[in-house]
Amino acid sequence: MHTILVLGGYGFFGGRICAALHGNEDIRLLIGGRQLAKARSLCDELGLGHTHAVGIDARDPALAQRLAELQVNTVIHTAGPFQGQDYAVAKAAIAAGANYIDLADGRDFVANIGSLNAEAAARGVLVTSGASSLPALSSAVVDRYAPRFARLERIRHGIASGARSPGLATMTGIFSYCGKPFTRLHDGQWRSARGWLGLERYRFPHPVGNRLLGACDVPDLVLFPQRYPQLRSVSFQAGFASMLGHLVVWAGAQGVRFGLLRSMRSWARPLHRIARWMEPLVSDKGGMFVEMEGVGHDGAPLALHWHVLAARNHGPHIPCGAAIALARKLARGDALPRGAMPCVGLLSVEEYLGALKGLDVREVPA
Ligand SMILES: NC(=O)c1ccc[n+]([C@@H]2O[C@H](COP(=O)([O-])OP(=O)(O)OC[C@H]3O[C@@H](n4cnc5c(N)ncnc54)[C@H](OP(=O)(O)O)[C@@H]3O)[C@@H](O)[C@H]2O)c1
Repeated sequence: MHTILVLGGYGFFGGRICAALHGNEDIRLLIGGRQLAKARSLCDELGLGHTHAVGIDARDPALAQRLAELQVNTVIHTAGPFQGQDYAVAKAAIAAGANYIDLADGRDFVANIGSLNAEAAARGVLVTSGASSLPALSSAVVDRYAPRFARLERIRHGIASGARSPGLATMTGIFSYCGKPFTRLHDGQWRSARGWLGLERYRFPHPVGNRLLGACDVPDLVLFPQRYPQLRSVSFQAGFASMLGHLVVWAGAQGVRFGLLRSMRSWARPLHRIARWMEPLVSDKGGMFVEMEGVGHDGAPLALHWHVLAARNHGPHIPCGAAIALARKLARGDALPRGAMPCVGLLSVEEYLGALKGLDVREVPA
């Protein structure tokens, strides 16, 4: 059996990944986190199977030894926030001869994972960062449609969440850059934007409808210009299901911009709690879009719009698709590259969304 340890296994996304992998005959699943009682409680909830609870700290200096003792073949790291984290977990996995998959959304964290390539290749393991909506699903969408363009010049993409707000690590990661400057490619030049500012409205297809979006600092802003060199503009925006909630975050980001606040990081915990209370009052629908523009092979302008839409609060399963699909492939012994790389080009859209079968998640192809 292939032993998979999910670090943060009872967290918001980790719990969903564990539920999807539990019961797979090829997988011995370890639900890991610093609170053994919480890991045990999820184990009990999932019921009989090759699933066990493990008390484990991602920051343990002896992590490599722990992984070797537990005979882990693959680590799925969801214990964010990743903004500001180092590669200690990935390095421990490599030292223990285990594959490593994370859900990171930190721009530099994902973009620089290739710095571990030589070590990972020498150990014959796969190390991949950003196995989530960004950049795994976003790049799979662009890879699918890029051959239809003679020149792909502009990518604008975004996510609007439903009522169920993500876990504390995700909120802390997002709030860490609210109101702070970052660069993105615009009309061929690297220009400055600010986290969660640049308020825009986006109309998703029915039943999601109109949402407010703000600018986000994500790995795709660096990875897409490398992968699709003819690009002149790349942007990513995100928004909350509650318009009021979105405007509160926007106002806080303005406070950071004008020096009234140093950071919104400390807002994550109270706003996370308020978002939970507001859940019954807010739409349970959410979605993701990717807009691609450029010139087609006939020389005429070409614009393609792709969407995935979720209802019944199933949207939060979408970021889990890549880790689930890759874990199943590794457990089956499917061919995958070895070495360290951002999670780009490892999965097709079909493989990614195939991991979410049975959920109220619907693709609207371009
Ligand atoms: N790339 C993308 O598109 C994308 C999309 C969505 C989310 N994400 C990422 O997903 C990550 C997880 O988000 P989430 O919403 O699931 O967060 P969460 O609910 O707060 O879960 C984090 C989990 O990690 C555990 N943890 C924290 N520190 C740990 C440590 N030192 N050792 C072991 N476990 C530790 C926590 O449990 P204990 O504190 O009890 O240990 C918790 O179970 C976020 O960081 C976010 O960046 C990425």
